[in-house]
Amino acid sequence: MKKIKVFAPASVTNVGSGFDVMGFAIEKPGDEIVLKLTDKPGVTITKITGDNGKLSKDPYKNTAGLSLISLVEHLDYKKGIEIELHKKMALGSGLGSSAASAVASVFAFNELMGKPLKKKELIRFALEGEKLTCGGTPHADNVSACLMGGFVVVRSLSPIDVINIEYPKNLYCTIIHPHLEIITANTRKILRKNILLSDAVKQWGNVAGLVAGLASSNYDLIGNSLQDFIVEPIRSILIPNYYEIKNEALKAGAIGCSISGSGPSIFAFSKSLETAGKVGKAMKKNLSEIGIGNDLYISKINKNGPKVISKN
Ligand code: HSE
Repeated sequence: MKKIKVFAPASVTNVGSGFDVMGFAIEKPGDEIVLKLTDKPGVTITKITGDNGKLSKDPYKNTAGLSLISLVEHLDYKKGIEIELHKKMALGSGLGSSAASAVASVFAFNELMGKPLKKKELIRFALEGEKLTCGGTPHADNVSACLMGGFVVVRSLSPIDVINIEYPKNLYCTIIHPHLEIITANTRKILRKNILLSDAVKQWGNVAGLVAGLASSNYDLIGNSLQDFIVEPIRSILIPNYYEIKNEALKAGAIGCSISGSGPSIFAFSKSLETAGKVGKAMKKNLSEIGIGNDLYISKINKNGPKVISKN
């Protein structure tokens, strides 16, 4: 096998209360990557589409490139690899766009090499690329959710310890992506470095409640546990009509709603596809009324993560 094309999904992280530690993969959108083995040593990015010219083709400055370089070095691969990256989701959307590119490249190369590493072992290489976007404080929630699929908890970064947790079969996610670009590194800088112990207590109560609610399919507990005392009050300022949109989503029947990753995308959970559709309509109406273009996605949790589209 000399050439492979793979898909890696978008992801929703933080999930309300779990800043940097909770996340899940969705079915679409996602990025596609083509890797080709060549005889000329080194990693080369030959083509990038869908990025409006914003991404660097220098592999050391590109999440897909840097992740792949770290894996190639680890596997001591001496020949060359060409990357074609097809961005199928907006940058700075809060849907783990950079993580999807990083995961796509390491997953694709591992497949080409005959799967020497388990998916979980690939997290640290994807994280090398993801570090380019986070402004010095790495977070593994997006790469872990994208790579592992399903719902994940990042228990520890050092050593990396990521756990897949149970979640209800009927859990539908509505995502509205307002057409604004938010740079993750900047929205991490505006967060408080110190928090009150009383806020921390409320927050970790919710994170524990969220994990318990997901594992026992207790929808009320899931909804209540999304409450975020630490990050949402600050980042919501950057999202026009955020609290109005959230209220509309809850009024339309969502069990809970919060910011996806670092925003501006907003996600809401529902118990049925029908409700998820109504929630999407309500969110879209609100944003459209204030003249902000948007994309709407409705998805179940993607249990598989990345997948091979073709290989030869
Ligand atoms: N957990 C990260 C953050 C996700 O909220 O900054 C970034 O998409």
